[in-house]
Amino acid sequence: MPTRIVAPSLLSADFAHLGAAVQMLNESQAEWIHLDVMDGVFVPNISFGFPIIKAVRALTQKVLDAHLMIEEPDRYLARFAEVGVQYLTVHYEVCPHLHRTLSEIRRLGMKAGVAINPHTPPEVLEYSLQEADLVLVMSVSPGFGGQHYIPHSTRKVHALANMIQSYGNSTLIEVDGGITPSNANMLWEAGANILVAGNAVFGADNPKQAIADILEA
Ligand code: DX5
Ligand code: ZN
Repeated sequence: MPTRIVAPSLLSADFAHLGAAVQMLNESQAEWIHLDVMDGVFVPNISFGFPIIKAVRALTQKVLDAHLMIEEPDRYLARFAEVGVQYLTVHYEVCPHLHRTLSEIRRLGMKAGVAINPHTPPEVLEYSLQEADLVLVMSVSPGFGGQHYIPHSTRKVHALANMIQSYGNSTLIEVDGGITPSNANMLWEAGANILVAGNAVFGADNPKQAIADILEA
C-alpha cells in the first residue's frame, strides 16, 4: 500500500482558537499538519511565521509540514529547523539555485520539498528529484484557502508519479488546494501520497470525519 497521509492546513482554522484546532488534529487521523507561510510578495497574502509555528510545535507530536510561499526562502531555512519543522517546502519559481536550497534543507536535518505553481510543468523537476523528499503540486494559485481545484492538476500528479517511478526515486507527491472528500480518490489513484485540505476540514461540521473521509476516499 502506498503512503497516504492527510495534512490539514491550519490556514483555514479559527486563529482565535488555534489551540483547540491543534487539539482536534491531535485526536484525528491526520498524520501531518500543513503550515502555509506567506510573505505578501510571492503571493498576495500574509499568513503567519515563527512564533505561531513554535506555539503549534509545543501542542503536537504530529509531523509539521511547512509550505513556504515566500521569496528568498534561503534566508530563513535554519529558523524553520529551529522551531521544529520536519518537512520544509520551497517554491521552484523562487529558487534559482534549487539544488543548493534543497541540499541545505537536508543538511539542516529536515526533509526537503519543492512546490510547483499551476502553470509550472512537472518536467522542470526532472533533475531535482534526487534532492527532493517531496514534490508539492499546487492545485490552486497559492495565496488563499477555499479556492476551487484546477482540473489539470490530476494530469500533473500522473506525470510526476511516472517520472519518479522511472527514475527509481522515492519522492513523495503532495497535492494542495481545493481538495475535498469528492476529488480525493482521483488524486490517490493518480499517485498522490499526501493531500492537503483546509476548507474541506475546518469548514466541515465534523472536521475529524472530513479528515477520515479524505483518507478513505
Ligand atoms: C494555498 C495554500 C493551501 C490552502 C489549502 O495557498 O497553500 O495550503 O490553505 O486550502 P484549501 O484546501 O481550502 O484549498
Ligand atoms: Zn499549502
